[in-house]
Amino acid sequence: MTQDVLTRPKVRAFGDDPMTVRSAFAQFPSGVAVLAAEICKEKHALVASSFMVGVSLEPCLVAVAVQKSSETWELIKDANRLGVSIFGKGQGDLTRKLASKDRAARFEQVAIEVDREGAVFIEDAALWLECSIHKVSDAGDHWMVLLEVGKLGVGENEPLIWHGAKFRELVSAQSFDVK
Ligand SMILES: Cc1cc2nc3c(=O)[nH]c(=O)nc-3n(C[C@H](O)[C@H](O)[C@H](O)COP(=O)(O)O)c2cc1C
Repeated sequence: MTQDVLTRPKVRAFGDDPMTVRSAFAQFPSGVAVLAAEICKEKHALVASSFMVGVSLEPCLVAVAVQKSSETWELIKDANRLGVSIFGKGQGDLTRKLASKDRAARFEQVAIEVDREGAVFIEDAALWLECSIHKVSDAGDHWMVLLEVGKLGVGENEPLIWHGAKFRELVSAQSFDVK
């Protein structure tokens, strides 16, 4: 479907090429999360850069968009609890490992903690959330998943940044005095 042309400079119809959209959206920086759970003694991980905090504070809701083709989502969608870890500085290789095609090898030599509810957390992350699934809505080729946060922990590591299909680190800008 061709989208409407807006009457602003440099904004144009993008046709129906998903790669055009994908590379344009890569301009938007985000953090990277991994949703992880242990079910019947097997650990499952779903890495997502579409993760978003602050959807609601009361109740405390966060969101993530999950590809409908995800095999891992089918395995974790009925989990009692999901562990969410926001990757920290220096965890780019770990992020790729946990998103690799070889699902059985994702957790090999990865330092984790599993809580009593089966939520799996990655060590040295920037932030940890223990969540339950609140609502799953249809969103085109993705599921829009709202997660309710039950517990949280703030790590000491700075967050890893995903931008332009690369991992980056935060750099302090020149200081701007806000008066
Ligand atoms: C940096 C990065 C960001 C990703 N973001 C998402 C995302 O937001 N949503 C999603 O469904 N998959 C995302 N993926 C892909 C999944 O992590 C995973 O590779 C894919 O779901 C296939 O594995 P599965 O079939 O085991 O789920 C991302 C992968 C990487 C490396």
